[in-house]
Amino acid sequence: MLRNLFILVVALLGILPGKAQSQNAPSLTPGTEAPLFAASDTLGQKISLKDFRGAWLVLDFWASWCGDCRREIPDMKRLEAAYRHVTIEGKPLKWLSVSFDDNNENWRNALRKYEMPWAQISNGKAWKKNPIAESYQLSWIPTCYIIDPEGRIVSGVITAAGLSDELARLSDERLLLPAASKQRGADVMTALAQRRSVREYAQRPLELQDVADLLWAAGGTNREDGRLTSPTAMNRQEILLYLVTEKGCYRYLPQQHVLQQVAAGDHRKLVASRQEAIASAPAFVVMVADTARFGMQGEQALSMMSADAGIVSENINVFCAANNLATVTRGTMDKDALLAIFGLDNTCLPILNNAVGYPVE
Ligand SMILES: Cc1cc2nc3c(=O)[nH]c(=O)nc-3n(C[C@H](O)[C@H](O)[C@H](O)COP(=O)(O)O)c2cc1C
Repeated sequence: MLRNLFILVVALLGILPGKAQSQNAPSLTPGTEAPLFAASDTLGQKISLKDFRGAWLVLDFWASWCGDCRREIPDMKRLEAAYRHVTIEGKPLKWLSVSFDDNNENWRNALRKYEMPWAQISNGKAWKKNPIAESYQLSWIPTCYIIDPEGRIVSGVITAAGLSDELARLSDERLLLPAASKQRGADVMTALAQRRSVREYAQRPLELQDVADLLWAAGGTNREDGRLTSPTAMNRQEILLYLVTEKGCYRYLPQQHVLQQVAAGDHRKLVASRQEAIASAPAFVVMVADTARFGMQGEQALSMMSADAGIVSENINVFCAANNLATVTRGTMDKDALLAIFGLDNTCLPILNNAVGYPVE
């Protein structure tokens, strides 16, 4: 699975756990029955761990006074949004945060400030005297446990990055990409001087950071209001991006910076079509215009959607030229077969694709 490769690459790219992290590692081991408890939400409603049986659960321990906890909140929110509609082995994934604030007002104020849109509970007791903290043998917060639908501990982590790796491991469907690294690459004039079509590639898969940066450059979000690196007519954002690799086909969700698997297996031949030799390119980015999202039909709409796809393709060309990757813009592909594999109907139009890989040494 591409997932496994990605995890391997993440592991290689990631910082090895330091001493502090291993000392603070969660104590409860995989397979342990998750200790049951109940506490109240901000409306005073009792929520019990047992209520989550039948679903996977991210159980998060934190407190508003804990700086490390507060620092992790933006990444936790990003993760929760990315995995909100994900199922693992057909079961939903839910979230529950337990706060160890003994000052109710501080807890409520923090919830108002950080707006974490999932269940939040507290029993109002300080964490050193808290039976919940005791039963989970907590020596550090933040701590997160993933609990399976039968109520058993699957794994414990102390950072959102660790949680991201664990969720990627468990979920077949989505992979949260590492944040795009925006400092890399040659300057624009050098990139333009180097840009050319390349149709031969080294035979190794793209690394995860390169995939993340490539897709972000192609059409990721670069502003708080959700607008993209590539302009689209009337900001319709109708160009859907699909990544096709040896392992499967993935839709890129720019707002979450996530890859969602839409098909397993090697479908690169469908993108290569009659240019058979290019089928061994490690990856293709396919630009599909969603005419329903564009909201207009006819010749003028088609020309605008084609222009929008062309801009995405040129973003890819410039990114690749700036970062020593090889690419070619292509109109050739088996459009009907790709629509079927991507699970799209003919209101969607594959317009262009870019084959992408590392240059042959
Ligand atoms: C809209 C468009 C469609 C293209 N389609 C293909 C294609 O299907 N296969 C291919 O090998 N190259 C394709 N190309 C690449 C062109 O052949 C290439 O850009 C051109 O020969 C100029 O070479 P250069 O990019 O190195 O400057 C396409 C380029 C564009 C802009």
